[in-house]
Order: sequence, then structure tokens, then C-alpha cells
Amino acid sequence: MRYRTVADIFSQISGIYDRFLNFATAGQIHRWQERLISLMGTEGDWLDVGTGTGEVLRKLPRNGFRIGIDPAYGMLKVAKEKCVGCFFVQALGENLPFRNSSFDRISLSLVFRHLQNKLTFLEEAHRVLKSGGKVGIIDIGKFKGTGILLFLMRTLLRPVGNLIFGKEKWDFFIHSVEESFTLDEVVDMFESKGFKVLHKERKFLGIIHIVVAVKTD
Ligand SMILES: C[S@@+](CC[C@H](N)C(=O)[O-])C[C@H]1O[C@@H](n2cnc3c(N)ncnc32)[C@H](O)[C@@H]1O
Repeated sequence: MRYRTVADIFSQISGIYDRFLNFATAGQIHRWQERLISLMGTEGDWLDVGTGTGEVLRKLPRNGFRIGIDPAYGMLKVAKEKCVGCFFVQALGENLPFRNSSFDRISLSLVFRHLQNKLTFLEEAHRVLKSGGKVGIIDIGKFKGTGILLFLMRTLLRPVGNLIFGKEKWDFFIHSVEESFTLDEVVDMFESKGFKVLHKERKFLGIIHIVVAVKTD
């Protein structure tokens, strides 16, 4: 799927995104983000990739630069209103517009599976992180029911999905479930690109993964 299409889809839903996510996760998203932040530690300059409406940055203390990037302009507009003192740039995780060794922390909340080239992102994250810097992700991982869910989304649920969201968005949701990985696959990707995984855990019946890794030089 083209980057432009993904950005358009998220821009179009930016006005209802926070309410939808709160509902879909039964409010747990805030706990997961707070957990990620506490595992990563808040010192230094922070980059939030695929920042959406800026919720991770909003939860951080104001003791360093807080920068969010996202290709979806509509999301960034909402983020700018919510997160005073944060900076936002329209950009992709696979092509970070920052100098080498700029950040202490990089977070991705519900974004990793949307990246079209995860290994290129990890190379970019390694480049812009300072020595000893950390990357942390929250993501929907592959779980036991993923195959059944995909089957239902492609068959029984398709007419309803197409009706509510439109075919393009429904195809995108199917694609984002197809792009989910097991915890071990995520760990392998990180470790193939110069990171050491410090922490991994599952939440929400194993569907949500949290991973924190440190840059190894
Ligand atoms: C499910 S939302 C998550 C937003 C926010 N991080 C949160 O936890 O609510 C996924 C976000 O990733 C962004 N995104 C999609 N592809 C991206 C890419 N290649 N690089 C950076 N962000 C991307 C989307 O525009 C969207 O805002």
C-alpha cells in the first residue's frame, strides 16, 4: 500500500481516533503507554514515530525535546493542539529527517506493523539514536486467533467492513493484521540491526506486545 494512502486514511479518522482507540482497547492504551515510558526511562530527547495524536509525548515529563513524526497531517494537527511544547514533523519512520545521534529515546505506539519497511526503520533508528539510546514499541502482535480473524475479515465481516469504512480502508485494516509478527520475530528483527532487547512482555490476552531494546554500538 502506498504511503500516501496510509497517511490519507489516518488523516481522515484523526477527529475520532482517540475516542475509537480508547473504546477498542477498553481504555488500556493509556496504561500500556505509561508502562512503555516507565520501562524506557524519560531522560533526554525523545522521538515518537507515528505519533498520531501525540498521546505518548503528552505523557512525558517536560525535561527534554519531545518530537513527533507522522505522515498523516490530520493526526499532527490534533497532536499539536494536545501537546503544548512538543514539536511535530510530517515524515516517515523509514526516512528520519534528523542528524546522526540526535535522540536518547524512540517510541512507536501501535505503529511498527504499519511501517512498510521495518528493517529500514531500524537502521534509521540506530543512526539517529545516541550511544546507549533505546527504542520501545507497543504493537498488536501475531496471536493464536490471527488466522481465524483474517479469514473472517476477508469473508463474513467484509460486507459490514466495506459498508462502514469503505473498501480501501477495510483492505488496509486487513493488511495491517497480516503485517503482525510474533514477539520472537520482532526480537530477531531488532537484533539483526544492532539492538539488544532488554525487555519484552505481552498484554491483553497476548495480543499486545511491548518490546524495549538498546542500541549496541
Ligand atoms: C494506529 S496509529 C498510532 C498512533 C499513536 N502512536 C497512538 O498510539 O495512538 C498509527 C500511526 O502510524 C502512522 N504511520 C503509518 N505509516 C507510517 C510510517 N511509515 N512512518 C511513520 N508513521 C507511520 C499513521 O499515520 C498513524 O498516525
